[in-house]
Amino acid sequence: MLEKIKQIAAEIAPRLIEIRRHLHAHPELSGQEYQTAAYVAGVLSSCGLTVKEGVGKTGVVGELKGNGTSDLFLAIRTDMDALPIQEATGLEFASKIPGVMHACGHDVHTTVGLGTAMVLSRLQDQLPGRVRFLFQPAEEIAQGALWMVADGAMEGIDAIFGLHVFPTLPAGTVGVRYGALTAAMDDLEIIIQGEAGHGARPHQAIDAIWIAAQVITGLQQAISRTHNPLHPLVLTLGQISGGHAPNIIAEQVKMVGTVRSLHPEVRENLPDWTRRIVEGICQTYGARCEIKYNRRLPSVQNDWRLTKIVERAAIEALGEQNVILINEPSLGAEDFAVYLDYARGTMFRLGIGLKEGKNYPLHHPRFQVDESSILTGVITMAYSAFLYFEQSASTPT
Ligand code: NI
Repeated sequence: MLEKIKQIAAEIAPRLIEIRRHLHAHPELSGQEYQTAAYVAGVLSSCGLTVKEGVGKTGVVGELKGNGTSDLFLAIRTDMDALPIQEATGLEFASKIPGVMHACGHDVHTTVGLGTAMVLSRLQDQLPGRVRFLFQPAEEIAQGALWMVADGAMEGIDAIFGLHVFPTLPAGTVGVRYGALTAAMDDLEIIIQGEAGHGARPHQAIDAIWIAAQVITGLQQAISRTHNPLHPLVLTLGQISGGHAPNIIAEQVKMVGTVRSLHPEVRENLPDWTRRIVEGICQTYGARCEIKYNRRLPSVQNDWRLTKIVERAAIEALGEQNVILINEPSLGAEDFAVYLDYARGTMFRLGIGLKEGKNYPLHHPRFQVDESSILTGVITMAYSAFLYFEQSASTPT
């Protein structure tokens, strides 16, 4: 089977480069993936898939029937949105849309999804179970997966595979990770309400700026003293505003930030923990406070059995030396996590690092990929699908 997959992948390679360059030149922002969705739907239809548009607003779903020897239903997820960045790569197929760029490789993800659909559709007679391809919008704003599941994209699904490009892994390699891949992400907003007064007479006022400084320091210190140091926790207050003149004591300060954690039990306690520290400090100095703690995304926890399938597929397809075991999770967030509330799943990293020249990070205006990685992604994904059906048929789940 692997040889057949490789052969078809090699045949469609020029078409995949064409698709990727088209997508790259025509990026669309989160929630506005209209042209991309229409294009994806067109390619999927031409492969004989049953296609539904408008799933999760601007998402697309394509379904492929297998030969019916397995009841299992596998989902393969890719994301389609771009970022508000002015591209500076100078590539001939660079973004034609001012201020919008595929700087997170979602054009590669979409192409890998389409390539996998092309390969599997040509092997449909030998494909035991069904595959549903999810092309989701709005990953960058952590909304797309929620929209997709609200429209039933995960109904009936037994397992889900996903991927994300990674510039520090060289093209031709794949990274797999057992357990937590990305962190849970929550939003935090704190408003401290003091009392205005003359800058020369602080004792007659309640200085919200000084109290905010205590709160910031207090939270950071509390992380090091009240949390298990083996359970990562990052709290970043990325925005702060308050006060309007040098000689007037500020009556209000607003701070907003992001909170990242890996362990569900840590995350569980975070709203109470934050409240206790912030309220305690504010009370001590006579200020009032308002705290909004919003849960955004859970952590991506890769299922070990599915991860093992992807690892085996990648080792057989690419050779052991090209499969990298990722030994540390990322504290970045990824809305693939949302799907894992509905089925077990795993997400792998696709190496895209250039062999020559500087590799810029994700979300950088000069971010580039080595396009040979597209075939690596397609072969790994398509073969993982086959191994999933094969393996799951012989082991009761
Ligand atoms: Ni991304």
